Amino acid sequence: MRVVLATGNLGKLREFAELLGPAGLEFEPLSAFGVESPEETGLTFADNALLKARHAAARTGLAAMADDSGLEVDALGGAPGVRSARYAAAPGSDASPGDAANVDKLLRELQGVAPARRTARFRCAIVLLRSADDPAPLLGEGCWEGRILEAPRGRGGFGYDPVFEDAASGRSAAELASAEKHARSHRGAALRAVLAQLRAAVR
Ligand code: IMP
Repeated sequence: MRVVLATGNLGKLREFAELLGPAGLEFEPLSAFGVESPEETGLTFADNALLKARHAAARTGLAAMADDSGLEVDALGGAPGVRSARYAAAPGSDASPGDAANVDKLLRELQGVAPARRTARFRCAIVLLRSADDPAPLLGEGCWEGRILEAPRGRGGFGYDPVFEDAASGRSAAELASAEKHARSHRGAALRAVLAQLRAAVR
């Protein structure tokens, strides 16, 4: 099945193709169709993944897959959540402020919060639609438990990786090799959940 992936991020495209290629999915990025991404107005990760997938399917006439992800910090009442990419943006602005500004803001907001109270998790929702009006989308969700460090550690990854400590290994997400990260991460878990549903659907 030819599937348009509602992202311009080639790293994500590679990750999705590695895991779902063997199940018969052939991905093309939405950017290859010259289509802009929609505004992410949903209240939940699943809402945003669904609206991005529906937009991609409607604009291309193909099956579409989209993901939405973010960081949930307990001491901040679940923030930055669905606003993770725009956390440090000026109010009313939807422009991405960049990873460094987002991480700085997070560390500032958590200044003085004790290590035991810095618990957090990454969440990811992935939606697969056969068409824009598919009444039964596949939805896979995953989460990854950890803690927010007091200062960045490690050079790999992206986004909040240098300040997110994996609960299982005690290493920051930026200190994990990419295969290790996929095996533990919210996105890996959500992809595997979609894969399990795809396999069940063709049985
Ligand atoms: P989106 O799902 O591409 O909209 O990403 C949401 C934002 O959440 C990203 O810009 C990152 O700031 C953050 N995020 C999501 N997944 C990860 C991850 O695996 N590592 C670090 N940051 C992440």
